Amino acid sequence: MPDWCASAVLIAVLAAVPALAGEIGPARAAELERLVRHDCGSCHGMTLKGGLGSDLTAERLDGLEPDGLAEIILDGVPGTAMPPWRPLLSEGEALWIAQYLLGAAE
Ligand code: HEC
Repeated sequence: MPDWCASAVLIAVLAAVPALAGEIGPARAAELERLVRHDCGSCHGMTLKGGLGSDLTAERLDGLEPDGLAEIILDGVPGTAMPPWRPLLSEGEALWIAQYLLGAAE
């Protein structure tokens, strides 16, 4: 069986059990990536380099802890247009996005 075939099977299996030990499965990861590009991007710029909201590039966020960043995503920034995402995202998902923005997402 060719290598790509084994990967496809693995991806299919992982996608079927996204909640494995609290891990974000590849299917949910793809959804979260889309959410970041579209929903976050609508304010922070499609390339996340800033718009109404600030620039969300890894260089600019460098120095922020993933946990702190996840809190901002979950609770929003009071007094600004940055909404809280808690109704839509779990803490694990917000942490995934934080790590994704910091360039450390697996
Ligand atoms: C309705 C517009 C809007 C949307 C949608 C939005 N944001 Fe924001 N965001 C803002 C604004 C406005 C700020 C405050 C910017 C400032 O302080 O200058 C902000 C601030 C932030 C900050 C803090 C940046 C810093 O420099 O402290 C982070 C992190 C952030 N947003 C991440 C996200 C993520 C991740 C998403 C998607 C899940 C998202 N935002 C969606 C408008 C938005």
